[in-house]
Amino acid sequence: MSVSSASLDAYWMPFTANRDYKKEPRVITGAEGHWYLTDDGRRIYDMFSGLWCSGLGHCHPKIVEAVQKQVAKLDYSMGFQAAHDRVFELAERVTGLAPEGLDHIFFTNSGSESVDTALKIALAYHRARGEGHRTRLIGRERGYHGVNFGGMSVGGMSPNRKAFGASLLGCVDHMRHTWDLEHQAYSRGMPEWGGHFADDLERLAGLHDGGNIAAVIVEPVAGSTGVLVPPVGYLERLREICDRHGILLIFDEVITAFGRVGTAFGAERFGVKPDLITMAKGLTNGVVPMGGVLVDEKIHEAFMNGPPAAIELFHGYTYSGHPVAAAAGVAAMDVYAEEGTFDQSRGLESHFEDLLHSFKGHPMVKDVRNFGLMGAIELVSRDGAPGARGLQVHKKGFWEAGVVIRNGMDVLQFSPFLNSDPDEMTQSFEKVRGLLDSLD
Ligand SMILES: Cc1ncc(COP(=O)(O)O)c(C=O)c1O
Repeated sequence: MSVSSASLDAYWMPFTANRDYKKEPRVITGAEGHWYLTDDGRRIYDMFSGLWCSGLGHCHPKIVEAVQKQVAKLDYSMGFQAAHDRVFELAERVTGLAPEGLDHIFFTNSGSESVDTALKIALAYHRARGEGHRTRLIGRERGYHGVNFGGMSVGGMSPNRKAFGASLLGCVDHMRHTWDLEHQAYSRGMPEWGGHFADDLERLAGLHDGGNIAAVIVEPVAGSTGVLVPPVGYLERLREICDRHGILLIFDEVITAFGRVGTAFGAERFGVKPDLITMAKGLTNGVVPMGGVLVDEKIHEAFMNGPPAAIELFHGYTYSGHPVAAAAGVAAMDVYAEEGTFDQSRGLESHFEDLLHSFKGHPMVKDVRNFGLMGAIELVSRDGAPGARGLQVHKKGFWEAGVVIRNGMDVLQFSPFLNSDPDEMTQSFEKVRGLLDSLD
């Protein structure tokens, strides 16, 4: 093993059962394309593209080269009242891919920061227009919007919220989530049933008066809670209700942007235009941490009214628009364009869907869900031990089958590379089948 017990002890790992992991550490020391290299000399196939973030594969040579050149040329430059050339280039490239009207981008360092930035922009926007009473934010059960206080408050994952209850933002409500086993089990793509769940927003608008609500935030496809795909008509209905009440609609596209659903943004694929879009992950192919918030022209304009020498938004991070991250971002945009990544991703969807749905009928499987290159196999939980089977699959995948599979409790999540080889995809799912067959 490549890590000492002292270093194992020193590192408090995120979202990890630390004591369990450290008994049997799974240590990755390198990566090449679609494969991880382990400290015991094995190659294991990554079925999750990092953490939904490395869609082009690991160590893409063009991105590696761009990062190496940039770090040798300009490692850091102040981002307040000053900026470097690369960040303007990236802003232009990303807004060029965005839905029409979302013409401005604010850079952050992660998805969590993007979400909190978007919520702050929404609140400040209403205030700038003289509607400072719009303070209420609406999220959704089973939504994941990162781990900072804003995102955690609008998020709907109880384990993430439990320890912080009283300190969460007070002015938040949640719509119900959109998954229903009875009516939607084994839907291929968007479930036909459930568009009416959007009316939960109308209910909350009735309760608080829509005129007091600043913004609604949803993931177009909820990823981290197990790939909950929006029912047909749902997102359109949310848009209509927002328009009726003057509420801003925020799409959290930290996962769905940059090809994961076959287009630059989920908004394009679903044909619904939000007012703000949050992103991270695929913005740099996961190579350097970076996030961003796309903002509609009307929102940006509302800030650009005061004295020209006054700061319009008192918000920003030391590393907003970091030069090395920006260089990675520009290189990722180049590769997406040159390799036709979004079309490649779209072309793999039906093969991926068939592989996932071939698990229908397996005695350990309760549901299968998919959209784009996002997929989930929900396992039947072991009596009295929810999550145990999911973790067993993850560990056996790593140690025995040579595949990295992410589990969220008993939901196995799949995020194949956007440029996957279909045969590799098939072989990796054969390994998943072997793992499920061996479950007790
Ligand atoms: C939809 C969504 N929002 C926000 C985040 C948080 O991003 P980060 O972990 O970069 O802070 C994630 C992470 O997976 C996500 O999936």
